[in-house]
Amino acid sequence: MEEISPGLENVYIKYTDLTFIDGNKGIMRYRGYDVNELAEKSSFEEASYLLLFGNIPSKEELKDFKNKISENLALPPYIHEIIKNAPENADALGIMQTALSALSETYINYQWKRDNDLKLIPKILGNTLSIVSNIYRIKNKLPIKDPVFDKNYATTFLKACFDKDVGEERSMAMDSALILYMDHEIPASTTSAIVTASTLSDMYSSLTSAIAALRGPLHGGAAESAYKQFEEIGYPDNVETWFNKNILQGKKRLVGFGHRVYRTYDPRLKTFKKYADELAETENQKKMLEIAKKLEGLGVKNFGSKGIYTNTDFYSGLVFNEIGFPLYMFTTLFGLSRISGILAHIMEYVETQERLIRPRAIYKGPGEKKYMQVD
Ligand code: SDX
Repeated sequence: MEEISPGLENVYIKYTDLTFIDGNKGIMRYRGYDVNELAEKSSFEEASYLLLFGNIPSKEELKDFKNKISENLALPPYIHEIIKNAPENADALGIMQTALSALSETYINYQWKRDNDLKLIPKILGNTLSIVSNIYRIKNKLPIKDPVFDKNYATTFLKACFDKDVGEERSMAMDSALILYMDHEIPASTTSAIVTASTLSDMYSSLTSAIAALRGPLHGGAAESAYKQFEEIGYPDNVETWFNKNILQGKKRLVGFGHRVYRTYDPRLKTFKKYADELAETENQKKMLEIAKKLEGLGVKNFGSKGIYTNTDFYSGLVFNEIGFPLYMFTTLFGLSRISGILAHIMEYVETQERLIRPRAIYKGPGEKKYMQVD
């Protein structure tokens, strides 16, 4: 009997060795390693290597991986032009999507093969670091430039954006955020990439599909929308009034709450909340943090019984802002981080299960009709 699963809920489309999620217990691991432990002790490039190549790299492997990324920080001039010529109010993630799509033009007759794919990885990681840092630069009227590799991926990215060292704590917070957002099994964005890769399209085109899906406020766009809630509330004493008017009576979704898989707190919150507390320095950052905590309390009180709890996007924006990024960059930072996980899933799919993804629709339209010329 044909039946629809709305939103493909509880539909499984692949096996994976990459990320394990237990939605009831709030557990999340990359190839068996707890994500918060990696966020605290590892680095983005080491965790990316683990996800993409299957093991924690040796010192030599890591050094070689970082060198290969550093050799790929320069973008072709035509990509600089695309970023430079984007309309002033263009969505940052939209520019990233366009730039990635333009890079796919250089991949004609792409052949998926393990060693071929692995060679592409450092190139794509270097390219996307450069794309995202230059999107930030252009939007802040700074000249486009190719990043210079620094201590690690996170500090390279931050220096490429801010032209300065943001300090140890903020650099570590960025590195942790890049690890926390790196993968999450197969959310809508990664699934979009897998569908594209299943046709044997190329890696950049598959990434473009994912970034396009990530943009929506039900998914990656929630990082920005959650922060906009705090700005709209304005001050801590207004949280309850705002919540009653907009969420309870207004029936609006509390952004940064709820998840298709988690029925408890999103495990990634632990690290994001730690940094949100530690990095809040200015009066405004402290005010936003207080608003967030009050709003979270009301959300859990009213929705916790339905299994609706805080997700990672509720606090990530606070941390990105405290590191120095404006609201419009939040989802793009999420996208930068997620490139590693998406690449790992599309390689895993094409190299091990390669089957065109083509679901069905249950037809409920009119039966056969005879065509009659109108005149
Ligand atoms: C991310 O999938 C991933 O892994 C994504 C992600 C990743 O790392 O890639 O984790 C990142 O996208 C996190 C999610 C960010 N999105 C938001 O914060 C937007 C707000 N959240 C919701 O819109 C919602 O929770 C979803 C979209 C995330 C999940 O929704 P589902 O699984 O489709 O659930 P649903 O919309 O069918 O809602 C089920 C019930 C409904 O109540 P009833 O109509 O049955 O009475 O739960 C309620 C909903 O009204 N509900 C909410 C709610 N989320 C669900 N009610 C109030 N506020 C919310 N946020």
